[in-house]
Amino acid sequence: MKKINQTLILLTAALLLAGCNQAKKEIVKKELFGTYKGGEVYLLTLTNKAGNVLKLTNFGARITWLEVPDKDGKKDNITFGFDTFDGMIAGDRYYGAVVGRYANRIAKGKFTLDGVEYSLPINNGPNSLHGGPEGWHSVAWNTEIPEKTEYPTVRFTYKSPDMEAGYPGNMNVEATYTWTDNNEIIIDYALTTDKKTVFNITNHAYFNLHGAGNGDILDHQLVIKASKFVPVDTFLIPTGEMRPVAGSPFDFTTPHTVGERIGEAYDQLIYGGGYDHTFIFDNAEEVDAAVYEPVSGRFMEVISDQPGVQFYCGNFLNGTMIGHGGKPYVYRSGLCLETGHYPDSPNHPEFPSTVLNPGDTFKSRTIYRFSVK
Ligand code: GLA
Repeated sequence: MKKINQTLILLTAALLLAGCNQAKKEIVKKELFGTYKGGEVYLLTLTNKAGNVLKLTNFGARITWLEVPDKDGKKDNITFGFDTFDGMIAGDRYYGAVVGRYANRIAKGKFTLDGVEYSLPINNGPNSLHGGPEGWHSVAWNTEIPEKTEYPTVRFTYKSPDMEAGYPGNMNVEATYTWTDNNEIIIDYALTTDKKTVFNITNHAYFNLHGAGNGDILDHQLVIKASKFVPVDTFLIPTGEMRPVAGSPFDFTTPHTVGERIGEAYDQLIYGGGYDHTFIFDNAEEVDAAVYEPVSGRFMEVISDQPGVQFYCGNFLNGTMIGHGGKPYVYRSGLCLETGHYPDSPNHPEFPSTVLNPGDTFKSRTIYRFSVK
């Protein structure tokens, strides 16, 4: 009898252990999603203890699905993405992607470093946008699932070769995503180079707190803790001015809906076709930006150590991109809060420096936190 009991205890323990391991493994599920230029592309499904799901892919180190509850507990995906890898390849280049080497625009695709002029691919009017057509959004990064982490975590790494898209230096890039039980996406970036270079790294996720593909974002209430923004010309290149937001439709220091003032005859709204501008963080408070959507009650907070944020409200969306579940992403149906440096900084010594030197590591963290109220 004693022996049977002991066997039973051992068996139960073994089963429990197996169960734990199984549960642990399931925190990050890795599946083959497709292949790109000979590299394997994976879909990574991260499930936190609250049962909410974040899906990532190493193609562009991107976020492709984020399922969080509304105030009644009903879950929906609130970020843009595609159901299949073929859809992703054929679709918008930047949805959810990590963008580099230089997120946003560099005027005429030219900058000078230590007396040497560098030329970049021109892919946006007369300018270079988002690291050129073959930027970091369009390569298959390496995928690591670190062990013994508190929360589901995936680390993407990429070796960007010297003169890739015209930029000097071999760069090692890391983007680590952690999906906490508190529904926070923590993105940790780390960059090194072996030659003096410039960079601007961001994540280009589009959010619609009604659910991706469920109408526009004009009713989303936005706060950006920024008392200045970066005005641009008609090609969205900074003029060099850092203009106070006070008294203008760019004042989001207190909550305003995205749509409230977007139609005003203000020069910058006309040039941008709406909001498509960098706001300079005051950095006085923990939370740098927040979005509230009153119908679902979903609330998103952005916390970052980067100097600013590009607030883009989907002015170029036109419904031709069909995303998850066959839903078209129509005009202004998603907003991006892309934390980073200011556009065209290499040509603006008055802006915070985007130079990276050999021996230095650029480290930065951005958190997107989701809740309801
Ligand atoms: C950024 C730019 C926009 C647009 C999108 C990509 O947000 O500021 O002008 O180019 O990327 O569609």
